[in-house]
Amino acid sequence: MAKKELLKVEGLKQYFPIKGGFLGRTVNHVKAVDDISFTIYEGETVSIVGESGCGKSTTGRAILRLEEPTDGSVVFQGTDITKIPKGEMRKFRKDLQIIFQDPYASINPRQTVASVLSEAMHIQNVLPPDQRRARIEQLLETVGLRPYQADRYPHEFSGGQRQRIGIARALSVDPKLIICDEAVSALDVSIQAQVLNLLEELQDEYGLTYLFISHDLGVVRHISDRIIVMYLGKIVEIADKNSLFENPQHPYTKALLSAIPVPDPDAVKSRIVLKGDVPSPIDPPQGCRFHTRCPFATDKCRTEEPVLRTSDIMKDTHEAACHYMEEISAGKMTPNY
Ligand SMILES: Nc1ncnc2c1ncn2[C@@H]1O[C@H](COP(=O)(O)OP(=O)(O)OP(=O)(O)O)[C@@H](O)[C@H]1O
Ligand code: SF4
Ligand SMILES: [Mg+2]
Repeated sequence: MAKKELLKVEGLKQYFPIKGGFLGRTVNHVKAVDDISFTIYEGETVSIVGESGCGKSTTGRAILRLEEPTDGSVVFQGTDITKIPKGEMRKFRKDLQIIFQDPYASINPRQTVASVLSEAMHIQNVLPPDQRRARIEQLLETVGLRPYQADRYPHEFSGGQRQRIGIARALSVDPKLIICDEAVSALDVSIQAQVLNLLEELQDEYGLTYLFISHDLGVVRHISDRIIVMYLGKIVEIADKNSLFENPQHPYTKALLSAIPVPDPDAVKSRIVLKGDVPSPIDPPQGCRFHTRCPFATDKCRTEEPVLRTSDIMKDTHEAACHYMEEISAGKMTPNY
């Protein structure tokens, strides 16, 4: 079956102004997301990974227009939702839901679970009010809670249960795409696995599509179909999960993978150790943004920006942005540590 595009992001930029001086003028910008493009197909799980500050959450927020994108388009089922009047976003908010890391922070502690869920349904005008209670109880069962828990308050639940409530709230409006921003990051590993399994079951049952944002490659490995690796506001690699884990091309991706604990360290080909800190997104390095930390950087890397491209040693759906990926994979470049 041909894959159907659900969401297409093109040339997305999100620059945050920095005000300065006593006139409060814009003196510079944080280039949090700087010209990224990718497509999400119906029913798949695409993950975004990368170190803290690389622009993962900003990408998710810009897609939902929680922040107005600086440039670019976000086409959802044929409509560029960055170009419609803000007031018309309401009907798309029903299709595009987001779940955050800390479910407690996004749930009002003085509201019962039933009231949290019915509020979401009310805003989106889902079901007549007299049918909502039954739907709420059904939703709680769907996410592995009990119907009587509808009248409890958030503090009466554990972290994993609260995340289940967050999922129930997203599901209550019958969405198509759910953006999960570090949705399991705060949970213990065993609870993480349960919530990830629940997300997968719900995906099968309701044909959901996920954009899964996480700094944790272990989690991403569990849930993704495809993976986007971001570095300083740019996409540096994008591939099917297996292709990315088995045949990573970008030195940054290799470094991220080298940092995951593995039972047999020798099994990791060409270990790359990340040195130094991520540079500031206010004044990102010229050329390849990774050049200040890359052990293979040359003069060309310092001046010319590499574009995302495929190569003979990769599947054609796999792309990376590095001038030297062929040479590095062939062992023709010596790392400079
Ligand atoms: N509203 C804002 N105003 C100014 N700068 C911002 C704003 N939101 C984010 N940033 C900056 O944009 C960059 C990207 O932030 P973002 O939250 O998207 O990163 P992230 O990849 O989600 O990181 P983390 O893994 O820590 O969640 C960071 O440098 C951050 O400080
Ligand atoms: S383009 Fe150069 S600096 Fe950038 S990742 Fe490739 S080798 Fe490293
Ligand atoms: Mg984030």
